[in-house]
Amino acid sequence: MQQVSIDLLQKYNVPTPRYTSYPTVPYWDESIDQSHWKASFAQSFDEDREISLYLHLPFCESLCTFCGCNKRITTNHAVEEEYLQALLEEWALYQNLMHGKPVLREVHIGGGTPTFFSPGNLSRLLEGIFATAIIPETHEFSFEGHPNNTTFEHLTSLFDLGFNRVSFGMQDSNLEVQKVINRIQPHGNVVQVVRWAREIGYESVNLDLVYGLPLQTVGRMEKTIQDALNCKPDRIAFYSYAHVPWTSKAQRLFDVNDLPSANEKIELYQLGKTRFMDAGYIDIGMDHFALPGDMMVQAHLEGNLHRNFMGYTVQKTSMLLGLGVSSISDISDAFAQNKKTIREYYDAVHAGELPVFRGYFLTKEDQIMRQYILDVACRGKAHFAKKDLELLRQFTFHELDELALDDLVTWGEHGLLVTDLGKHFIRNICKAFDLKWLSSEVQKKTFSQAV
Ligand SMILES: C[S@@+](CC[C@H](N)C(=O)[O-])C[C@H]1O[C@@H](n2cnc3c(N)ncnc32)[C@H](O)[C@@H]1O
Ligand code: SF4
Repeated sequence: MQQVSIDLLQKYNVPTPRYTSYPTVPYWDESIDQSHWKASFAQSFDEDREISLYLHLPFCESLCTFCGCNKRITTNHAVEEEYLQALLEEWALYQNLMHGKPVLREVHIGGGTPTFFSPGNLSRLLEGIFATAIIPETHEFSFEGHPNNTTFEHLTSLFDLGFNRVSFGMQDSNLEVQKVINRIQPHGNVVQVVRWAREIGYESVNLDLVYGLPLQTVGRMEKTIQDALNCKPDRIAFYSYAHVPWTSKAQRLFDVNDLPSANEKIELYQLGKTRFMDAGYIDIGMDHFALPGDMMVQAHLEGNLHRNFMGYTVQKTSMLLGLGVSSISDISDAFAQNKKTIREYYDAVHAGELPVFRGYFLTKEDQIMRQYILDVACRGKAHFAKKDLELLRQFTFHELDELALDDLVTWGEHGLLVTDLGKHFIRNICKAFDLKWLSSEVQKKTFSQAV
C-alpha cells in the first residue's frame, strides 16, 4: 500500500463535503414548492418504477455524545406506535403520486436506532409497505442494528422479510473511550450479534468504526481494529469523527484536549487502512473497506457502484425515497428533505401533506457536474464530454492542475484518472467539480474536515 505523507494529508485536511448529494445540502433552497416536488416525483416515477427506499427511525435509548445523526433520545417505547403509523401515512401520500406499484430494489432502515423498535413493530411497518409494492428477486435490504439492543428475533424477523445485509455500530472497543462518548458497549455484544447474523444467513455484515474520538490513541485503536477484524465483517465503514458542535451540541461536552490532534487523527487513519488492507480488505473509497467476495467489491471493480444519501450502493435506481423525520429523497433531478423535528413531521403528515421543508431542483449544469462527481467517487475516473469543456475549463481544470502536481490525478481534456495516491483524497478531488463550492464562499464551515 502506498504510504501517504503527513504533509499531504495536512494540506488536504480541510472542510470538505462527503458528496452524498450534489449540490450539497447547504446550497439547497430553504423552502420547497410542494406542487413542483409532487409533479417531479410523479414524472420520475412514471419514467422508472424501481425505487430505493430509506426509512429513518430516530429513537435511541441513550445519547452517545459523539453522534452527529438526527436522533431523539427516549426510553419510552410507546413512541413506536405513533411513529410507525406516521411512516405508513407518509408512504400512502407518496403512493397517491405513483401510477402503479413501485418495485423496491433497495430498502435501508437507518437512524437513530432501528432496533429500538420491537421486532413485531418493525415487521408490521415493513409488511404494510411491502403489501403495496413489488419485491424483485434481486434486492438489497439492509438495516442498522445497535449491538446493545439487537436481538436474535430482530435479526430473524427482518431476514424473513428479505433483509440480507446488516450494519452494526461498533465505534470503539476501549472502555475509556466508551466512557467519554457515553456508550458503554462490551465487545462481547458485537461478537454475539455478528455471530447471530452469520448463523441466520445474512450475506453481508458491516461494522462501523470511528477514528478521531476523544481519548483514542494508536495503541487503543490497534486493539479496536483487531477486535473488529476478529469478527471478520464483510465490510468496514471506518468513519472520520465529524466534529460539528454547532449542530451536534452534545459534542460540546468533550474536553477539546481529549480530542486527537490533526496529526494523531491522521495516524489513526493510516493505521486502520494498513491493517484492513493487510487483512485482505479492498479500499472502496471514502472510508469504506470490503472483503473481495462482497458485492460492493465486485460492483467497484465492474464500475457499477453508485452513491446516494445511503452512502455507496450496488443497486442503481434513479429514485431514492426517504421516509421519516429529516429523511432526504433524491429523484435524480431534484432533492427534498423532510422536517427535522418529530412534532413538525407528525403535524404535516397528519394534515395529509408531504412533510418536505427544503429541497433543490437541479439545473442542466448541476446535472453535468453531479455526474462527474459520481464518476470520481464511484469509478475513480471520468470522461469529459466535448460539450462540457468550456465549463470545465472555467472552473475545474486549474483545480485538476493542482491535484496533478500532488500526483492525485492524471488528466487531459479527454478525461481524468484518480491515481492510487489520489484514492485517499476522493472527497477533495470531487470538490474540483463542485461549482457551487468553487464559485461561492457560502457556509464552508458547515462541513467537517476531509480526514
Ligand atoms: C445511526 S448510527 C448506527 C446505528 C446505531 N444507532 C448505533 O449507534 O449502533 C450510524 C453511524 O454513524 C456513525 N457516526 C455517528 N456520528 C458520527 C460522527 N460524529 N462522526 C463520524 N461518524 C459518526 C457511527 O459510526 C454510527 O454507527
Ligand atoms: S451513535 Fe447510534 S445509538 Fe448513539 S446516539 Fe447516535 S444514532 Fe443513537
